Amino acid sequence: MGRVSNKVAIVTGAGTGQGEAEARLLAAEGASVIATDINLDAVSRVVNDINAQRPGAALALKHDVSSGEDWASVVAQGVEKFGPITILVNNAGILAPASYDKVTYAHWQRTMDVNAWSQFVGMQTVIPHMKEAGVGSIVNIASLAVVNACGRFTAYTASKGAVDAVSRAAAIELAPFNIRVNSVDPGVIHTAMVDEAFPDKASIDAAAAAQPLRRMGRPIDVAYLVLYLASDEAWFTTGTSQVIDGGLSVSGGVTPVMER
Ligand SMILES: NC(=O)c1ccc[n+]([C@@H]2O[C@H](COP(=O)([O-])OP(=O)(O)OC[C@H]3O[C@@H](n4cnc5c(N)ncnc54)[C@H](O)[C@@H]3O)[C@@H](O)[C@H]2O)c1
Repeated sequence: MGRVSNKVAIVTGAGTGQGEAEARLLAAEGASVIATDINLDAVSRVVNDINAQRPGAALALKHDVSSGEDWASVVAQGVEKFGPITILVNNAGILAPASYDKVTYAHWQRTMDVNAWSQFVGMQTVIPHMKEAGVGSIVNIASLAVVNACGRFTAYTASKGAVDAVSRAAAIELAPFNIRVNSVDPGVIHTAMVDEAFPDKASIDAAAAAQPLRRMGRPIDVAYLVLYLASDEAWFTTGTSQVIDGGLSVSGGVTPVMER
């Protein structure tokens, strides 16, 4: 018996990085997984691997999370194949760094659409099925940028702040239906997104060395937290923002030299 057996999960952005790790882990723990991504080739590879381990456990779908029409189609296909959805992991996101003077309305709007509107419309589309099932867990991936500011991430930070705030509001509205909503604030997790922010080995190594644990997080580290929040083990946990950052947010950055 897995930790999420008999549950049906949607994981967005599951073609690579954290979403891939989350889809693989939820499937390994017994869930049926609808793995979606704008990159169908990437998510199909992940789903083929999952199905080689557990035949029929996963479905790959092409999905632009900023599109309400895509959400309607993904949810309809997922429900038809597996039944009512009981876990939603809103993971897909873009970084699109830009200094404040380069932020245009189009840049701001695209970042908000892919990172924030996507998660809201995803919840709106899935919630009727969770109500039908009488249970649900929604995990919205935000970012440590909500807590610790980063230069060049203006629109990204705004979008992730919206994710955290909307998750709290949704948690209260949905609690009477036994639907839990939590957000996750990852620190620096080594994925393609981090390679975009730190484009060479020297800057990657420097960023890892600056962490209190002297390393970056791995996608599987976040996946274990998502698994917990998705499972019934977290039945009393809703409306929280879970920081997972190797201690970065509580670090003062300075360690005095002490002598006794
Ligand atoms: N990596 C980090 O350090 C870090 C830190 C904090 C938060 N996050 C957040 O974690 C989540 C996962 O990031 P990651 O590091 O795995 O990134 P990643 O770039 O490795 O993966 C993102 C995935 O999302 C998909 N995607 C992009 N736009 C999409 C769209 N419009 N519709 C559907 N899919 C789309 C991509 O194809 C890709 O497979 C994101 O929401 C990101 O903002 C990442």
